[in-house]
Amino acid sequence: MRLGQCGPPGKAGPTESGSESTMSEAVRTMMRMDAEAAQETAAQANAGFLWDFWYPAVRSTELAGQKLATAMLLEVPLVLGRTSEGNVFAMRDSCPHRGMPLSYGRLDGKVVECCYHGWRFDACSGQCVEIPSLSSQDKLRVDRIFAGHYPCEERDGYVWVYMNSPGSKLPETIPAAPALTVFSHKYKITHLSCELPSHIDHGIIGLMDPAHGPFVHQSWFWRKRASIHEKAKQFEPIPNGFRMSPHSPSTNSAPYQLLQKITGEPVTTTIDFVLPNIRTEEDRSGKLWFSSRATVTPVRRDLCRIDFVAAWNLVFLPVTIFKMFGKAFLRQDQQTMINQAEGLKHNPRLMLIDDADRPAKWYFSLKANLIESRRTGAPMVHPMSGPVTLRWRS
Ligand code: FES
Ligand SMILES: [Fe+2]
Repeated sequence: MRLGQCGPPGKAGPTESGSESTMSEAVRTMMRMDAEAAQETAAQANAGFLWDFWYPAVRSTELAGQKLATAMLLEVPLVLGRTSEGNVFAMRDSCPHRGMPLSYGRLDGKVVECCYHGWRFDACSGQCVEIPSLSSQDKLRVDRIFAGHYPCEERDGYVWVYMNSPGSKLPETIPAAPALTVFSHKYKITHLSCELPSHIDHGIIGLMDPAHGPFVHQSWFWRKRASIHEKAKQFEPIPNGFRMSPHSPSTNSAPYQLLQKITGEPVTTTIDFVLPNIRTEEDRSGKLWFSSRATVTPVRRDLCRIDFVAAWNLVFLPVTIFKMFGKAFLRQDQQTMINQAEGLKHNPRLMLIDDADRPAKWYFSLKANLIESRRTGAPMVHPMSGPVTLRWRS
């Protein structure tokens, strides 16, 4: 994609500078602030986040009119809005002058104005367009000052923000934001979300963990604990992730049984996980389909958020009914993670076992190998050498 949906990307902070001999107090102050920003960058780098990816920040519906919304991604505070032309934008929620959150300011459809001294920034590029206090004597180049600014795209009802790593320049081109796969023109779509008081890694391995189903998700509409049985599933490597190869889903899950009864055709399910945080599932039976995506997004190192979107063309499944079951399902996961967080506070030793925890091991290896390949510039090594069958009881 072309960078900056509504203008070129901005820089990470103030860009005014001066030579040693002419260095003003203002520039020295800025340099001190840069040093503090560098410390913050190092802290963020150690938080176990994966930078240079798209993350969903807010729902599209939250950006209406001249409202400014806030979000936090990877411990970066963001202010988001929509220009009068309808384009979404995301800036660091911090004025480059003296750090006032820009979200306390106002948006006039094109420009965000800080509430403290009225500095004005172009919403689409973060570029400063006016400093009201400057007199005709002042030589400060206003256009060289930028508020932190991030690429921003809308997909499937979410506003996605491309979180380039702190202190780095955006590349010329970046991939398009992720989009949910759909298989017909007409379909229903719905969104659910919940917060987990966990580090992103625990959120993600909780998402892909097959063995908790019979214990956490017991319910009349899904499955019973007694239905636990041995399973064998084939997995294959895909770029930046792995796929549970297309298969007929578990016979102990009621919704899949129902689908097969209606179409009279086999149900096939394909489940992918790709870095940094995306699990997709596609279920198809004849002309009927169901497609979902769950992302686990790091908010802070001790907080992440699941965003779940599902689309389907099953006429017999109203959004309200699906939402009711989906919410109950997510609440079960959420309560489990809240309880687990209590135990994790004391830094216990943990273990991952074969085969039920193998996907979690792949996740950690994928993440480590990606970071290593970015560091060295060498191609990323995939932790799987080919298809493999995993067996577990669930
Ligand atoms: S802090 Fe924003 S204009 Fe001064
Ligand atoms: Fe779960």
